Amino acid sequence: MIIKDAQFISSNTQVDKCPQTNLPEYAFIGRSNVGKSSLINMLTNRNKLAKTSSFPGKTQLINHFLINESWYLVDLPGYGWAKVSKDSREKWGKMIRAYMRLRTNLICVFVLIDSRHEPQASDLEFIELLGALEVPFVLVFTKTDKQSAVKTDQNIAAFSRKMRETWEELPQIFKTSSAEKAGRDEILDFIDATNKQVSE
Ligand code: GTP
Ligand code: MG
Repeated sequence: MIIKDAQFISSNTQVDKCPQTNLPEYAFIGRSNVGKSSLINMLTNRNKLAKTSSFPGKTQLINHFLINESWYLVDLPGYGWAKVSKDSREKWGKMIRAYMRLRTNLICVFVLIDSRHEPQASDLEFIELLGALEVPFVLVFTKTDKQSAVKTDQNIAAFSRKMRETWEELPQIFKTSSAEKAGRDEILDFIDATNKQVSE
């Protein structure tokens, strides 16, 4: 898929204020600092479309980007950042749960996982929440440029083993590096194919 056009549409805390649309939507979520905003910029080939930062907690709102005037990418605030107050964590939970439950045009959630780490409880918990809400999702292992391919695959295998403890089927898995622009075609092809299925 060629990205001809990518536009920032809106930032919201409330789901009912998000764009009113039937166009298919794909949301990016994961721990703070995992590289959600960077991945959106890499996919769209726009350096500054989504705001990135080396400090966790940069993205605080539900950010909608309209791609090729035909589907939406959504940048969501991350979870699992230790320095967040209990109050903000609860607000985050409320907002994200409402978004997942009420956003009827949400087709698939991309759960980003840092490929450098062993399985983390916060990622596994978030995936359980998606399961409970029956939201379709895929996994994206990010920042693969930070270590060897072998190490990345070991961490993915460990994560898959953990998931098999509760899941019968594993989701589709992508590997990405926003720094090296790796994994771009795979994700865009997946979105393209899914958009075609949805419109049938
Ligand atoms: P929050 O909005 O705070 O939840 O973070 P985020 O998940 O949107 O992460 P963001 O894209 O802002 O990236 C966090 C930091 O990781 C930035 O310093 C990025 O430059 C860096 N980063 C993101 N992706 C990659 C990658 O693939 N490789 C490398 N080496 N660094 C990356
Ligand atoms: Mg962000």
